[in-house]
Amino acid sequence: MSSSKMENSQWSNLYLGICIFSLQWILTYQQVNVALRGIATQSSSFSGYYYASFAIDGNRASDLRLSSCTHTNADNSPWWRVNLLAMYDISNVIITNRGDACAERLNGAEIHIGNSLINNGNNNPRCVVIPSMPAGASVNYTCNMRGRYVNVIIPNVIQYLTLCEVEVYGVPVPVFKKAFLRIMFNSNEDLSNPTMREKVLGKIKSTNVQPSIFQIQWTKEPELETET
Ligand SMILES: *[C@@H]1O[C@H](CO)[C@@H](O)[C@H](O)[C@H]1NC(C)=O
Repeated sequence: MSSSKMENSQWSNLYLGICIFSLQWILTYQQVNVALRGIATQSSSFSGYYYASFAIDGNRASDLRLSSCTHTNADNSPWWRVNLLAMYDISNVIITNRGDACAERLNGAEIHIGNSLINNGNNNPRCVVIPSMPAGASVNYTCNMRGRYVNVIIPNVIQYLTLCEVEVYGVPVPVFKKAFLRIMFNSNEDLSNPTMREKVLGKIKSTNVQPSIFQIQWTKEPELETET
């Protein structure tokens, strides 16, 4: 009698997959100027002032005297860069040109976006070449590129680079993490039956506090081991 009861009892290995979205991605999935939280640097700073950070001060003021624009020395291929500190899907970049004088100095500037710091990040893929920009104008460039660094460079010329604001609109690249659980059930129920499995999964899901972050599903057919 007891041996026949044992035969009806099944051990089932069930494989549960859990997909965890980055919490940061959930909380910040909106287009914001992520440059404001970055760290800026440039090829040189004119008279030791006109810091690279003046282009990410959240202020589009375009008169050089207002201490809100960057200014390099007359460098060969002068450049400016913001390190966004994490990888972003960048939809567009808005650049504000100097307004009080010398607007033509920005002619031929390029925006580059990527993850490399080779050649100070200036070798990253190019979004756009800026032929020219009116004095004090803010122009919106569509990039749809991914990266941690955004550079502005005026290549192959000895020139001053001045930027009164660089806004970078993007969202953090989502981070996916997967975890797998192996659960052993001792059950008289037939877990090879999909309806039964859905029932068990429903019970597990009902205990899940953050269903938007944790997605749970079976990742494998149950493996049945019948005890004899
Ligand atoms: C920049 O352009 C994009 C698409 O071309 C648009 O969705 C976005 O709203 C613009 N940004 C601003 C601040 O005007």
